Amino acid sequence: MTQPLSSDTYFEHERPPATIQSDREKVADFVSRQRQAGRKVVLVTSGGTTVPLERNMVRFLDNFSAGTRGATSAEYFLEAGYAVIFLHRQFSLQPFSRHYSHSTNPFLELLTVETDQLDIDSNAGTPVPKIAIVPEARPKLLSVLAAYRECHAKGTLLTLNFVTVNDYLWLLRTVSVEMAALGRRAIFYLAAAVSDFFLPTQKMVEHKIQSGEGNLQLEMDQVPKILKPLVSQWTREGFIVSFKLETDPALLIPKARGALERYGHQVVIANDLHRRKFEVAFVSRLPTAPSSTGSSAPSVQFVEEWLTLPTEDVDAGKEIEVDIVARLVTLHEAWIEKGTVAINQT
Ligand code: PMT
Repeated sequence: MTQPLSSDTYFEHERPPATIQSDREKVADFVSRQRQAGRKVVLVTSGGTTVPLERNMVRFLDNFSAGTRGATSAEYFLEAGYAVIFLHRQFSLQPFSRHYSHSTNPFLELLTVETDQLDIDSNAGTPVPKIAIVPEARPKLLSVLAAYRECHAKGTLLTLNFVTVNDYLWLLRTVSVEMAALGRRAIFYLAAAVSDFFLPTQKMVEHKIQSGEGNLQLEMDQVPKILKPLVSQWTREGFIVSFKLETDPALLIPKARGALERYGHQVVIANDLHRRKFEVAFVSRLPTAPSSTGSSAPSVQFVEEWLTLPTEDVDAGKEIEVDIVARLVTLHEAWIEKGTVAINQT
């Protein structure tokens, strides 16, 4: 088995996206404004990354994620007073507009034509029927609009997007280096589903792969484990929350513990694909005193706190992200104050 590339080697060989410099400037400006305003900042990553198979890309591999977790959580962080850098897959769900996604709640369905009332067409100057919002959609629209307008007025939401895993890795590095200035007042909420394998540019064919050439065989390289440099180099004090998605429940907690052990960050939120909308586990480490056997290396213990929405809350439309974000805000406060994470075993 070949070893995964180090992140340094990756960034030496793979080119940055064309917008990296302007994105860096936007982030630096945003971070500096939020620091002046005394706000905490959270980076929310959201949606799946793609892996192109050709340089002139026609085909690509995709990663599962609609962006619901990220977009929903971003709204609750804004509500909790955080400024949000929302790094998302292009065209995946976004805060606020997610409530009116074209597939689940199409915008046109919210409109009604009031034939008995007229507006004046501003171009032609002639009377036209008035278009209004259907009454049953108004209360929710008003509250979404109020929150949307408030965050725009305060300038608390910065949105950046990626498509490929390469865009994602470059942007994550750039954003986290800029956010290091926030010290412990930054949260990294890594909900994006990131590709594990990719085709390095030098191994990629230039043009569209031809089907006439028979079976397609690909040998892909491992994407570097980016949490490692994130924790140990790019942002040493930030409160880092990664996600672990599994489909086999037996693997969920062991894999989450493994990630904590490997990367040394603060929290893994473990979620099972089929239960993720109503159940997650917060997994963390409890550093203990040196062992009584005389070994100076502290042994690591893990602690899990389960968060489960009761069925009646799910039926009433409650989103689990409300509770995830509320819990993280409390844990983050303790992190800022003491530099420790205090999860309760459940
Ligand atoms: O968007 P939805 O449809 O609502 O779905 C939400 C979700 C299920 C995608 C989300 O809750 C979730 O679990 N996201 C993480 C998915 C996952 O397990 O990703 P991963 O195994 O590729 O990565 C695990 C963690 O390591 C992630 O936090 C990732 O940011 C990080 N990672 C991954 C790859 C890599 N090369 N370096 C990394 O640091």
